[in-house]
Amino acid sequence: MQKKQIALALPGCQPRRQPTTLEKMPEKVRKAVFPAAGLGTRFLPATKAQPKEMLPLVDKPIIQYGVEEAIQSGIQNIIIVTGRGKSAIEDHFDHSFELEALLESRGKKDLLAIVRSVSDMINVSYTRQKEALGLGHAVLRASTLVGQEPFAVVLADDVIDAETPCLQQLLDVYQFFNAPVLAVMEVPRENISAYGVVDAEPISHNGAKDRVYRIRDLVEKPKPADAPSNLAIIGRYVLTPDIFTSLGAIEPGQGSEIQLTDGLKHLLRSRPIYACRFEGRRYDAGDKLGFLKATVEFALRRHDLGGPFREYLKGLQL
Ligand code: G1P
Repeated sequence: MQKKQIALALPGCQPRRQPTTLEKMPEKVRKAVFPAAGLGTRFLPATKAQPKEMLPLVDKPIIQYGVEEAIQSGIQNIIIVTGRGKSAIEDHFDHSFELEALLESRGKKDLLAIVRSVSDMINVSYTRQKEALGLGHAVLRASTLVGQEPFAVVLADDVIDAETPCLQQLLDVYQFFNAPVLAVMEVPRENISAYGVVDAEPISHNGAKDRVYRIRDLVEKPKPADAPSNLAIIGRYVLTPDIFTSLGAIEPGQGSEIQLTDGLKHLLRSRPIYACRFEGRRYDAGDKLGFLKATVEFALRRHDLGGPFREYLKGLQL
């Protein structure tokens, strides 16, 4: 397979010199893991009998936004880590013969194309996380399907609207350093305990200390007073397969779960890890208020709905 060096497209970053033939070129990232076995307790009772990943943002399930972002970033294979009660996700990315036959017989070509495009979108594999033992445990469950190659992790709850897809921004940094990269964003101190947090040193590129950091340490959901910074990990990662060894080696951490953040902290002992403060807007669609904000903003941006929806909102006595 031909490998090529991709120029880093981040503002203020210069492409690294071309590696010599003796240096290892970064391998192409072809797979993305979507952990989707969580119980969705933040969204009860809606998630009692349906996966939170299937809650619709306007007219697409949350997980589809993440899958589309992965496709736009050049990923060809999706691995969804599911659990009990998540079969609607598998059905969503599968063919729906009855529905397609019905739409065809009624001549509903536009709807048929929409329905077919979902199942034709991408290669999807599934693996099961039998117990909810944490994000790190979910990622470890995907190790056989990932194999010995770099891969992305996408947390579907984090819906990110960006000109350059967030995952693509991370992949550019990965290509540059040939090392794992996490998405981060600044959050107010009082909210920091909801996140993994990095202690990181900005890396200067072309004089700009802008968006890329080298990580010194990571901590999962610290108390505000203990947080090493206000840079929170957001649900996009580009990882290398050595993370699986680290995840297998660590003990349960915060919430008695195997935390991906702890696995990364373990991996940091043996290799550099980077963070990218991505450009774009992130919505926490796994939270009721975040979900509402995303719904309103996405609907306002739609060509077919934006106009009348804006008029409706203007008419509300707020
Ligand atoms: C997970 C990660 C956390 C990260 C967050 C981003 O936490 O464990 O490090 O900051 O996703 O959304 P969760 O929100 O699943 O508890």
